[in-house]
Amino acid sequence: MNKQNWTGFSKKTILQRIEHLEKLHFLTNSSSETLYQHRTLPLETADQMVENVLTTYNLPYALAPDFLVDGKTYQLPMVTEEPSVVAAASYAAKIIKRSGGFQTTIQNRQMIGQVALYQVPDLEQAKKDILANKEHLLQTANAAHPSIVKRGGGACDLRLDFVGNDPTFLVVYLIVDTKEAMGANIINTMMEALTLDLEQLSGGKSLMAILSNYATESLVTAQCTIDLRYLSRNKDEALELGQKMALASQLAQVDVYRASTHNKGIFNGIDALVLATGNDWRAIEAGGHAYACRNGQYQGLSSWHLDEQQHQIIGQLTLPMPIATKGGSIGLNPNVALSFDLLGQPDAKTLARLIVSLGLAQNFAALKALTSSGIQAGHMKLQAKSLALLAGASEKEVPLLVPQLLKSPHLNLETAQELLEKIRQ
Ligand code: HMG
Repeated sequence: MNKQNWTGFSKKTILQRIEHLEKLHFLTNSSSETLYQHRTLPLETADQMVENVLTTYNLPYALAPDFLVDGKTYQLPMVTEEPSVVAAASYAAKIIKRSGGFQTTIQNRQMIGQVALYQVPDLEQAKKDILANKEHLLQTANAAHPSIVKRGGGACDLRLDFVGNDPTFLVVYLIVDTKEAMGANIINTMMEALTLDLEQLSGGKSLMAILSNYATESLVTAQCTIDLRYLSRNKDEALELGQKMALASQLAQVDVYRASTHNKGIFNGIDALVLATGNDWRAIEAGGHAYACRNGQYQGLSSWHLDEQQHQIIGQLTLPMPIATKGGSIGLNPNVALSFDLLGQPDAKTLARLIVSLGLAQNFAALKALTSSGIQAGHMKLQAKSLALLAGASEKEVPLLVPQLLKSPHLNLETAQELLEKIRQ
């Protein structure tokens, strides 16, 4: 295999894959050791991370290679239990690379915290008084967490809104630059430091002070433009497929049942990389699904349309992506360190760009499969491989057995065993 040639990576053994990564210098000594020795989260560390620990829990850790994002190639680690997700991502990365890769934009990277005030006697007056003291409040927030200010971040803006019937609440939103951290602790500390001042300024009571996972100040967009000829060698078929993918994207805008599944497919990729980098995937999911409702109805997060000449299909995905490269449990798990090595030690903005690109890739593969052969065909191929292995086929026998299994009327273990016996005769 040539340098940076990933064709057939999936057909290698695990050992050969690791050797390939070593040859390409993607692994530090420590990461090589992690892979060769199957190093995972030490039980003693796990016991410090959460409560009432009994053991640790493993999931497959895979690699989707060769993602071209903003002109640079990346290998994306994916932690997932679902077959065909990594294959689909790898497949999409390959096609999208041929068409120029992903282009990403980051509008901002700031987090939001909120203090909800209630029983405020005069909402308008409270708003005026709080805004008049904005600078003082920002200083108070920063004084509560000086280390983030030293690192060049900190509280940078404060906004207010009336929400609820009557309205019931005056909500104060604090915008904070948390640098490489996700910032939950930083923000929660700052918000709690503000409550006394806010109660005094508003004359109301603080109900709660907490970070918001609706990270609308951390929006990231990934886009790709794919030549239709990569969808099918047949020109008419390629155009029809492109049109159907665009229609599928429209369907996800208007039918909430479809939107939910459409977005689940996007999160197949996103969660896998978020998990591999030790990040809080619930936070990313919550923000993403809230963003899917920003127009008042839950909608598909991505969109696909054909260009005017109908030569290309253009996909786009925008998501809140408040991802971290420092803090939380990052650094405690040797598999997370491995992920950062494989990714080339990205900063938080780069990691966010990669995650959203992977979400778009995953969506591309799913929509292409759904609007052509159907999702089951790809699943069946992978299912046949699992059955072949389960039947006891060796690495050399698997490629002989899988095509025969796919042709057989019953895709089950018994058939796999019978066919394997015939191959061995
Ligand atoms: P194919 O065209 O049969 O693939 O597609 P191929 O065998 O010709 O291989 C082409 C490339 O795909 C390979 O290149 C790999 O990059 C990759 P190569 O390395 O050979 O040069 N690839 C694989 N990579 C790793 N392991 C494999 C493997 N096979 C191919 N075993 C494929 C096959 C599965 C890719 C295609 O059918 C596909 O993309 N299907 C979609 C699968 C999918 O989306 N699965 C997610 C689970 S379903 C779901 O939860 C979401 C959903 O409901 C979302 C929605 O509704 O929107 C669908």
